[in-house]
Amino acid sequence: MSDPLPPLAAIPPDVAALADYEPLARERMTPSAWAYFSGGAGDEWTLGENVAAFARHRLRPRVLRDLKGGGTGITLFGADLAAPILLAPVAFQKLLNPDGELATVMAAGALDTAMVVSTQASVRIEDIAAHASAPLWFQLYIQPDRAFTADLVRRAEAAGYKALVVTVDAPVNGLRNREQRAGFALPPGIGPVNLAGMQPPPPSPRGALLFGTPLLDLAPTWADLAWLRGLTRLPIILKGITDPDDASRTVEAGMDGLIVSNHGGRTLDGVPAGIDLLPPIATAVDGAIPVLMDGGIRRGTDVLRALALGAKAVLIGRPYIFALAAAGAPGVAHVIRILRAELELAMALTGCRDIASIDRSVLNPPDGVAR
Ligand code: FNR
Ligand code: LAC
Repeated sequence: MSDPLPPLAAIPPDVAALADYEPLARERMTPSAWAYFSGGAGDEWTLGENVAAFARHRLRPRVLRDLKGGGTGITLFGADLAAPILLAPVAFQKLLNPDGELATVMAAGALDTAMVVSTQASVRIEDIAAHASAPLWFQLYIQPDRAFTADLVRRAEAAGYKALVVTVDAPVNGLRNREQRAGFALPPGIGPVNLAGMQPPPPSPRGALLFGTPLLDLAPTWADLAWLRGLTRLPIILKGITDPDDASRTVEAGMDGLIVSNHGGRTLDGVPAGIDLLPPIATAVDGAIPVLMDGGIRRGTDVLRALALGAKAVLIGRPYIFALAAAGAPGVAHVIRILRAELELAMALTGCRDIASIDRSVLNPPDGVAR
């Protein structure tokens, strides 16, 4: 196995699509980092399905409409965003670039794009905020130590984060098969620095696998969300909702938004694609709170499809991560720009002059799935 190549000094002219960054990233990552960032749970069926499912939703061009004065801007939780595209929380970005999350936040700022910062970021959330020029949201994993969790929320508020994204689909998470086979471990000097000083959970009883361990016994429940609701005035968005009944419960629990997500295929293998989970959830929520989605977005036409099926905005994970590994902050900025340009093109060719005019009529048939 040859050593990883150095990052690209300039973006090659033949990089034309998000997918073009993937091989460029792989050559610049250790095999174990590659296994961590690209991998999914189990047999990786959901991972592949997230991307493949988009192609089943067919599009419907419309011609000769007046597109003057159009644009992709939206307002979300009181903030004006240039486009309905955000950067999803992804852990440990220093594994990919010496500046880690700082490179990402600078690219996001340059392109006026909101970034969601992971609880497992490899840079302090205050330092990321100090480099931000676009809205930041904080992704919270409710920790076994609830007092420490409350402290994290206070820190995010004080640093100017505009929303909390509470990820609820990964209460427990072992090494995925590919990570295990590749011997993935965090190198010295890179880790979840924002969790420093936290009380470790008590040791597991001998012989316990998952049931009976403190990790599972202290996993968050709906009661913790009621507690969190009382703790902060920031908008709270649940990430990892895949079921319409859980979506209704999210609204009843007083949450401000939700993200339809199967965690990029990294938690429960066998879950349908994000784009296929979205329509019944959008129906259940019925406009009560904004519904966002992620998983497998690789083209502007995918963003259009998600918006048509009820999403207010989408998030991308691996596409910007691979660009970060290949070319640092300029790569991340390039990915955002490509995706936005593709979205504008898709809107123009389906006759949509603004985000509000995107609905199921851009799909053919109206769920897009040819039978
Ligand atoms: C993630 N994701 C994630 N989500 C989260 O809430 N907190 C986290 O710390 C992480 N960390 C993380 C690491 C890596 C390596 C990946 C690939 C993903 C999930 C992420 O936010 C998002 O849901 C998916 O990545 C979206 O799918 P795509 O765009 O990668 O297909
Ligand atoms: C992951 C955790 C950090 O997906 O959310 O790796």
